[in-house]
Amino acid sequence: MRDVQLFSRPSDEGASRVDVRRLLDASVNIAAEQLRGRARVVKVYDGEVGCVEVNESRLGQVLLNLLLNAVQAIPEGDPSRHEIRLAVRDDPVALALTIEVSDTGVGIPANVLAHVFEPFFTTKPMGAGTGLGLSIAHGLVMGMGGSLGVTSEPGRGTTFVVRLPVAPDPSRRSVTGRP
Ligand SMILES: Nc1ncnc2c1ncn2[C@@H]1O[C@H](COP(=O)(O)OP(=O)(O)OP(=O)(O)O)[C@@H](O)[C@H]1O
Ligand SMILES: [Mg+2]
Repeated sequence: MRDVQLFSRPSDEGASRVDVRRLLDASVNIAAEQLRGRARVVKVYDGEVGCVEVNESRLGQVLLNLLLNAVQAIPEGDPSRHEIRLAVRDDPVALALTIEVSDTGVGIPANVLAHVFEPFFTTKPMGAGTGLGLSIAHGLVMGMGGSLGVTSEPGRGTTFVVRLPVAPDPSRRSVTGRP
């Protein structure tokens, strides 16, 4: 299955030009079974969003983790009431790309929010979660020169924001060192 292959190349350490929208689409396909019966997915992709130069499989793991957390924050049974919004935006001034994963799930109270990036921190029942998802995601995004943030309103939902430096536009790359 091609979508899964995008996320499972641990031996490939290198960075390449990655189209974030393609990775988000693949994450949605992988999570399709869990999404069904919980929420509709709304994609807000800017027309001209840039690419990022990162390890594709690592960024895929980050996005899939955020999406699965969003799914797990939404109770089953009322999919017309719930939404998971995936937004990709370019910030041309900061030369950054912003990826938002928002849900209309249970939200995170302030005393929990302070700990969500800690390794092994989980509020899920024994055996349901390791509590490693966000701490690994945070480390991977930092390693890409980016940042991972979160805002939440208990009872209303949560937004995770991945911010990454954009890859230079190859058509504008200056050619140097020609004989
Ligand atoms: N979208 C979200 N809505 C509500 N709570 C969240 C959300 N994302 C994360 N959390 C909270 O942060 C905790 C840590 O998340 P993390 O992804 O690190 O671990 P986990 O989901 O519990 O387990 P694992 O990802 O290892 O299966 C969760 O247990 C949950 O309390
Ligand atoms: Mg998780």
